[in-house]
Amino acid sequence: ARRITAPQIQARKGGEPIVSLTSYHAHTARLLDRHVDVILVGDSLGMVMHGMETTVPVTVEMMIVHGRAVVRGTKRALIVVDLPFGSYEASHTEAFHTAARVLKETGAGAVKLEGGRRMAETVRFLVDRGVPVMGHVGLTPQAINTLGSFKARGRDDAEASIILDDARAIAEAGAFSIVLEAIAEPLARRITQEVAPPTIGIGGSPACDGQILVLEDMLGLGDRVPKFVKKYANLGPDIEKAVASYADEVRARTFPAAEHTYAPRLVEKPAKAS
Ligand code: KIV
Ligand code: NA
Repeated sequence: ARRITAPQIQARKGGEPIVSLTSYHAHTARLLDRHVDVILVGDSLGMVMHGMETTVPVTVEMMIVHGRAVVRGTKRALIVVDLPFGSYEASHTEAFHTAARVLKETGAGAVKLEGGRRMAETVRFLVDRGVPVMGHVGLTPQAINTLGSFKARGRDDAEASIILDDARAIAEAGAFSIVLEAIAEPLARRITQEVAPPTIGIGGSPACDGQILVLEDMLGLGDRVPKFVKKYANLGPDIEKAVASYADEVRARTFPAAEHTYAPRLVEKPAKAS
């Protein structure tokens, strides 16, 4: 079976909700592949996988290493790789070189970049040259140093109209879908009604055409998670319990047991000629 394509996701506007999660490595990607339409290799990997405070220090090399792993682990889902901070904002050509490198070296089917009107010409430039682009407006974590906090956006009319313009600009520039992060419901509903490509919400309300969450957050592995995360599992405490049992058993010498232990192979001694 062929992979889901960016145009197929674009065609899902107003139809069956688009299901998406993040993944950064082959093993989880394989588990997701049969259940989701889109797997995002998000630059949130800087925080989740590498312990960074923000996504700002994430490099193109990191995105490529993790992107490649996710592509290898999957057959069906559309793989989208985030362009990290500092790799695409300065010019159209810089953005194209980075996006082309990411697609060539990972095998992913699309890239995502953050920003509204200021990025519209870049989105057009990439799409015209064969790079499917997922947009991302509302809370844009790469701008944390100018935003000052990770709080929700567009909760007053002035900010809402800026974000609506941002989404329109990215849609008109040819984005195949747009992530709406941490924005109030009426704004998410309005954007979803007005723009042609499907919207994918993360803290973007049920009005969006699809939803995405960070896998580790919804699995209960993150220590602190935003309001918009629902925990579908509680793996953090489960993993700690397993590790504590292992530690106890090693210290008590009850692990490994006989069934985990190799016996010597019985070798028939050649009969001695007499
Ligand atoms: O990096 C990321 O995980 C993301 C999603 C949360 C949309 O950009
Ligand atoms: Na991201």
